[in-house]
Amino acid sequence: MVILLTNGHSLDPIPAGGTVTHNTGHACGTHDSGHAHAHGPGATSYPDFEWDDLYTGDGSDTSDPDPTLLAPADDLPPGRALDLGCGSGGNALALAERGWRVTGVDLAPRAIASTRAGACARGLDGRVELAVADSATWQPEVAYDFAVSSYALPPRGPARTATLAVLATALAPGGTLALGEWDEEACDWAEPGDLVTLAELTEALTGLGLDVVRAERRVVPRIQHPGEDHAVIVIARKPHDTLEASG
Ligand SMILES: C[S@@+](CC[C@H](N)C(=O)[O-])C[C@H]1O[C@@H](n2cnc3c(N)ncnc32)[C@H](O)[C@@H]1O
Repeated sequence: MVILLTNGHSLDPIPAGGTVTHNTGHACGTHDSGHAHAHGPGATSYPDFEWDDLYTGDGSDTSDPDPTLLAPADDLPPGRALDLGCGSGGNALALAERGWRVTGVDLAPRAIASTRAGACARGLDGRVELAVADSATWQPEVAYDFAVSSYALPPRGPARTATLAVLATALAPGGTLALGEWDEEACDWAEPGDLVTLAELTEALTGLGLDVVRAERRVVPRIQHPGEDHAVIVIARKPHDTLEASG
C-alpha cells in the first residue's frame, strides 16, 4: 500500500503501533531519500520559506525538549500525546521517553525524518507515530491527553485559526494543551502576523471551548540558537463536561 501524504508526496507505510494513517514511510534502519519540498498542495505556512531546509533528516539535529511546555505533562499519567509542528522531535521524543505514546506532525518531510531517526536511535519507535502534514488540515484520529505546540503556529490568518481548532479538537475531555509562541509585542525580528499576542491566543482558545489555566509573557531560551527571547506561553484544558442547554 502507498500512503498519499497531505503535501502531495507518497510513501510506503512503516509498521506502527497506532491508528495514524499518514506515517513517515520508512522503517528504522532504512533511509529517507534526498530533499523533499515542504510546500505542496495544502501547505499553508510561510509560502516563501522552506522549513525543510532547516533540517538534516538524519536525527543529528534533534532539538532540546522545552521544559516549560512539557512541565504540565509531568503531573499527568502517560497517555496519548500530540506534538503539532514537532520539528526534529525534541519534545515528542522526550514525551515518548517518559512513557507517552506520541504522534508528531510536521509539514517538513526532513523534520519528520529526523524525528523518526531519533526515535529509532533511542528505541522509541514503538511509541512514536509520525505524519508529514499541514497542521491546518491534519485530522486527528484519536483523542489526546496532552498536546504541545512549540513555536510552530502558522502566521495569523485562516491557517492559524484552523491549527488552533485542530489542537482543541484533538484533545480528549480533560486533556491539556501547552502552547508556546514568540511574542509579537516584545520581539522585533518577525514579519507582521508571524508572531502572536497573549490576548489573541487566550481569546481563540477560550472561543474553542478550552479553559485557559495559565497565560503569561516570559523570556525563554531560543530553539537551537544561543540566547533568549520573549514568548507567550498558554496552558489550557478541555473541560470534562460540556453543559447542555436546558429548556
Ligand atoms: C520553529 S520550528 C519548531 C519545531 C519544534 N516544535 C521545536 O520546538 O523544536 C517550527 C516548526 O513548525 C513546522 N510548521 C510550520 N508551519 C506548519 C504547518 N502549517 N503545519 C505543520 N507544521 C508546520 C515547521 O516545519 C517547523 O518544523
